[in-house]
Amino acid sequence: MKSLWGGRFSEKQNDFFFQFNESFSFDMRLAEVDIIGSKAYAKGLQQRGIFTETELTAVLGGLDELLHDIQSQPEILAKALNEGYEDVHSFVEYQLTQRVGDLGKKLHTGRSRNDQVATDLRLYLRGELDATVDLIQKLQKTLAHMANEHPQTVMPGYTHLQKAQPILFAHYLLSYYEMLKRDASRLLDARRRLNILPLGSGALSGNSMGVDRHFLAAELGFEGITANSLDAVSDRDFAVEFMSGASLGMVHLSRLAEDLILYCSDEFRFVRMGDQVSTGSSLMPQKKNPDALELIRGKSGRVVGNLMALLTVLKGLPSCYNKDLQEDKEALFDSLDTYKASLRVMSLVLETMTVNEERMATEAEKAYMNATDLADYFVGKGMAFREAHHLVGEIVLDAIKSGRSLSELTLADYQKFSNLVDNDVYHALEIMAVLRKKSSIGGTSPEQVQAALQGLS
Ligand code: ARG
Repeated sequence: MKSLWGGRFSEKQNDFFFQFNESFSFDMRLAEVDIIGSKAYAKGLQQRGIFTETELTAVLGGLDELLHDIQSQPEILAKALNEGYEDVHSFVEYQLTQRVGDLGKKLHTGRSRNDQVATDLRLYLRGELDATVDLIQKLQKTLAHMANEHPQTVMPGYTHLQKAQPILFAHYLLSYYEMLKRDASRLLDARRRLNILPLGSGALSGNSMGVDRHFLAAELGFEGITANSLDAVSDRDFAVEFMSGASLGMVHLSRLAEDLILYCSDEFRFVRMGDQVSTGSSLMPQKKNPDALELIRGKSGRVVGNLMALLTVLKGLPSCYNKDLQEDKEALFDSLDTYKASLRVMSLVLETMTVNEERMATEAEKAYMNATDLADYFVGKGMAFREAHHLVGEIVLDAIKSGRSLSELTLADYQKFSNLVDNDVYHALEIMAVLRKKSSIGGTSPEQVQAALQGLS
């Protein structure tokens, strides 16, 4: 066992407890940021006379060498799994000491794993958050591109999953664009609070070596330093905020997945999934299943679950660092990996999906989805909306009985209900006329959708 402690113990640690306690198996992914943070800290120590210039050069050289080794042969970490490291911090210090000798043992002067791990996590998550935002924005671009390719494609719009009013397919796609836009901005907002440096807080009460925390922050690209050491070592709000943003992001992906699962079913036939992202059945030769989307929908559950897990870990913690906090990592990493993978797969699904424009257009003509427009027509002739609503309800009931659409009713049929109806009613009921009327900002009229596409940011 290669621990960073031991002097006050007389018995060896129980092997099974070692396994229970270790975090190297999952925090090894912090190795690079741990080294980067250590380089900055070594410079801070040199400013305080803990290292001479020459010693600092040697320590930085050793850390760079280790960084290079890990980057060029990532398998080093997996190989080190059975070498008895308690955590990634023990690994880095041990490896450094192997390379530069006893000098490596000075690196931890005034530092605690408590401010170190808090710093590592922020550094790591900062990079991963940026990568996540890139993936969200890539998916937004895919949605916008598809919307641009379908300026006139109509589809049924649903409420309660019942056909409600016709909409443009582009308008539908842009609704998810908006959700994703908020998802990215939520993460970027969280980034502002994440990008504050806890290093120099010591174990809980501060750093006794007088390291210049502003210097450390500047070295590591942080926008500021934490104000209270007790808070700094146990603050995991940044992880909660990311995981909460990821949860909501996954909820949006899950809703899109749910739509598309329905839309690719034989009942809808609005879209066809690409073979690249579908699977077959071991028994039924004809099957093609949208597993990619089902997995995204399913994985949203674990991302929400991870958020609950971390909140629950945090809620009972007494002040400052407690080992419970080690439980933050697997939940956070899992949410991160799952969210990023889901964003990638969703992009792939959309890029390989075929849109059945004809089928959507046919379905958009059904189910009396222009009934509101008939009511609006009566309103245009001076009738109060509530009366028009009732009257159109009666007309629809009558049309259902004879199995006809509103456009198929004759003028005589209409005039049995009201003599306000004229030949111009047929134009008002046409799907494009219906769409054009939804011209409020944010509505589905072709003009508004064009404006929305042009104004995308
Ligand atoms: N592996 C620990 C964690 O993830 C590192 C910090 C340990 N600190 C301590 N005082 N034991 O939280």
